[in-house]
Amino acid sequence: MIYLDNGATSFPKPQDMTRAMEECITLYCGNPGRSGHDMSMKTGEEVYSARRKLAEFFNVENTERLVFTKNTTEALNMGLKGVLKGGDHVVTTSMEHNSVLRPLKALEKKGVKHTIVKADRQGIVKGCDIQKAIRPETRLIIVTAASNVTGSKMPLKEIGELAAKKGVIFMVDGAQGAGSMDLDVKKLNIDLLAVPGHKGLLGPLGTGALYVSPGIKIEPITEGGTGTESKSRLQPEEFPEGFEAGTINAPAIIGLGKSVEFVKKLGTDVIASYEEELITFLDNELMNMDFIQYYGPEACKKTGISLINVKGTGAEEVTSLLNDNFGIAVRGGYHCAGLAHKTIGTWDTGAVRISVGPYNTKRDIIAVVDALWHIGKRI
Ligand code: ALA
Repeated sequence: MIYLDNGATSFPKPQDMTRAMEECITLYCGNPGRSGHDMSMKTGEEVYSARRKLAEFFNVENTERLVFTKNTTEALNMGLKGVLKGGDHVVTTSMEHNSVLRPLKALEKKGVKHTIVKADRQGIVKGCDIQKAIRPETRLIIVTAASNVTGSKMPLKEIGELAAKKGVIFMVDGAQGAGSMDLDVKKLNIDLLAVPGHKGLLGPLGTGALYVSPGIKIEPITEGGTGTESKSRLQPEEFPEGFEAGTINAPAIIGLGKSVEFVKKLGTDVIASYEEELITFLDNELMNMDFIQYYGPEACKKTGISLINVKGTGAEEVTSLLNDNFGIAVRGGYHCAGLAHKTIGTWDTGAVRISVGPYNTKRDIIAVVDALWHIGKRI
């Protein structure tokens, strides 16, 4: 199979990662932070090492304020629901994933209001439009680093500076940016950062993290066992354990530590420019196909995504044809981000997303180009 669905999850994964996971689960996996025996202690040390690697990767100073989650959605829910109170106002964008828009909709019931700033047809939001949406009661701005639909990168530096100037909390959804964009929390003034382990960081599915900067007061959204203060009925407030109730997915987190090490060694900038090279090549080919409808900005303004439709053929059908007849994996439809599709003009059709990762080669791109020519000729 030619895998071009790295926007959904990256594939393949670094061997060091799978080896570390196997080693953990077969040789020493106790429950970290729960018991005093060697296996529990060793697992705890390895989890801490993974936390430190992830923290360093995003330039987080207080390692303990990086909390492991099961995915970005959980991290976003924890950040939004843990921080916002009735009367607060939030500014967000029309390119957000449902993992931002749905919690914000649910928070309306608690009296939290929000304004959705519309991006342009290429899926890019302007810093000045964010500024115009800020009100006296605005408590938080939440923006995706890059759209999961078009790959469009948002002006994070400008928005971060604006948020800092206005004293508003700046939260970033790093689902499509982590691993191929520099999400340095200090440089970008990020207060809350939600990331997946399994996309650009090349880690296992079911992993993610939330960074909470030291000034932010946050309530946990899940209470339970933490391995600490067992006689108290109250949830401990300490980071990270107060926010990681229940047994964590230690083998996957330890694997994530290894894959982050791998990404760091390769270099985020090297990965970004390699993916841009692949997407530039693909986009140039797509531009020559008069049966292709193309969406989103040019390669340098987006992460490794090309979004298209084949005129006269539904997105789901193209996706199936690519899978069934050519062995190519892409994602068609609405990508859990209906409003983003509305913004770029694909509300009625959805679209086909081709998304690359560091393991893809030009040969994979040539294969999808050839397949699209065949599909185009068929119609
Ligand atoms: N949010 C993921 C995607 O964009 C799953 O496909």
